Amino acid sequence: MTSGLRQGLTSYGDQEFSLFLRKAFIKAMGYSDDALNRPIVGITNTYSDFNPCHGNVPTLIEAVKRGVMLAGGMPMVFPTISIHESFAYPTSMFLRNLMAMDTEEMIRALPVDSIVLIGGCDKTTPAQVMAAASVDRPAIVLPVGPMLVGHFKGEALGACTDCRRLWGEFRGGRLSEQDIDIANARLVPSIGTCGVMGTASTMACLVEALGLALPGSASIPATHADRVRLAEATGKRAAELTKGGPNPSELLTPASFRNAMVVLQAIGGSTNGVVHLSAMAGRAGHPIALDDYDRVGRETPVLVDLKPSGEHYMEHFHQAGGVPRLMQELKDLLALDAKHVMGGTLGDAIKFFEDVPGQTVIKPRKAPLKKEGGIAILRGNLAPRGAVIKQAAASPKLMQHEGRAVVFDSVSDMAKCIDDPALDVAESDVLVLRNTGPVGAPGMPEAGYLPIPKKLAQKGVKDMVRISDARMSGTAFGTIVLHIAPEAAVGGPLALVQTGDRIRLDVPERKLELLVGDAELKKRAAAWRTPAVTGDAKRGYARLYREHVQQADEGCDFDFLVAARK
Ligand code: FES
Repeated sequence: MTSGLRQGLTSYGDQEFSLFLRKAFIKAMGYSDDALNRPIVGITNTYSDFNPCHGNVPTLIEAVKRGVMLAGGMPMVFPTISIHESFAYPTSMFLRNLMAMDTEEMIRALPVDSIVLIGGCDKTTPAQVMAAASVDRPAIVLPVGPMLVGHFKGEALGACTDCRRLWGEFRGGRLSEQDIDIANARLVPSIGTCGVMGTASTMACLVEALGLALPGSASIPATHADRVRLAEATGKRAAELTKGGPNPSELLTPASFRNAMVVLQAIGGSTNGVVHLSAMAGRAGHPIALDDYDRVGRETPVLVDLKPSGEHYMEHFHQAGGVPRLMQELKDLLALDAKHVMGGTLGDAIKFFEDVPGQTVIKPRKAPLKKEGGIAILRGNLAPRGAVIKQAAASPKLMQHEGRAVVFDSVSDMAKCIDDPALDVAESDVLVLRNTGPVGAPGMPEAGYLPIPKKLAQKGVKDMVRISDARMSGTAFGTIVLHIAPEAAVGGPLALVQTGDRIRLDVPERKLELLVGDAELKKRAAAWRTPAVTGDAKRGYARLYREHVQQADEGCDFDFLVAARK
């Protein structure tokens, strides 16, 4: 097989001329023949002025290049789409598949022998792994690392669990306008990904568990010198990968996906981890059924004491030993013989770990934070294809609850009504939000964390049962049922709920039921109409998205990108 500059030649009908032309152009950059004859390591550049989480990408790229050259390779950087959570309209999830397609096609198009995927902000890591799985060229992931902890009035702060908590305090009138402004400037004290076990940290832990990144890569803070050294080591390894892999298809196996599910449960990871891991598994040809997450969750305890399920921040997880140390506690649940990007097995990769005397962030198996995993899968007549709840971050008293539905038809309907003093709502009600799924919103926004209606928040109500076909930020907390499938916009039962209906949630029994008779539901279904498609949604990427996005239980990938089952 051809390699380096000679592979993937532009089609002019004369291969030798194509190479001649390619070399003529690239020599404009001052490269020598010696450099151009080396194996080429592609490096994705996801730096963007709109992505502060990736603020250290230029530094990491320099270190990766150094590592590649120390190992005799030729580093070549190229840009791809970059997505930040707060700078993506209508939602970052809408763009994840576009980034995956962009990354995949650029890797295919360019003459790279291996690839370093530098990402971190929530959707970037899954998009890159989805791409790498589809191309199946040797690849190694380098997360940008978590941000540092902020401080406000003597307490530690981390984006964005504390963003939500403080905003809730402000809405409830318990924090002044001046204080919320000060907190706003302290919540994100450095570059890097959110400092709690949100989606970015979850995905970074999962790529470590999948064997796609070097040990420790999930937790070293973005600003630490160790992060730069890790980048250099990643570059070195990427150059070695050009000599024969392993390829992603050797690493992304049923065993490694199970390892990732174990880690997802043990870290109290983000519910978004379910969607992204399922999408990655679909690209690898090893689809994961929603019930697999539940099965793994029933035997895997939550061991990591991080917000939003616990107390600490990523910085502390790192000081406690990070993912390798956590995996030591989980050894009996893991397939340690799964192949690792370092060359050996997962068991080899985690042999070296830091045992920190007296640390309390990673709990021992005999004294877990929660006996069961963080995420449970619910089913019932409201969610025939399943729904997800982060039980680790829910209120114990609401885990079995029956209440009256208060329905919002869309995010804008909810935003308009939720703080209306005339809204007929009580603490025991179940807030229902719909038309916020993959097709409905579109892009399944993180709107599932419905705010507590202002009049209840002012009375001190902090949690209520909330259900939707939306997602929620991995940094959020509360008794919140998400990802209801099928979603309302494609005619799922959620579309049939009316204000005043009774809904029963039973997490121990894994049930979500609408207490309305079958005959009445049939009548409502017959009257239901598909929502009209208007404006820009009729064309371009929005149309491609609407016509091809899968439901949440399958990972929200495009149906034409999923691999055949292996
Ligand atoms: Fe980028 Fe949280 S906004 S990781």
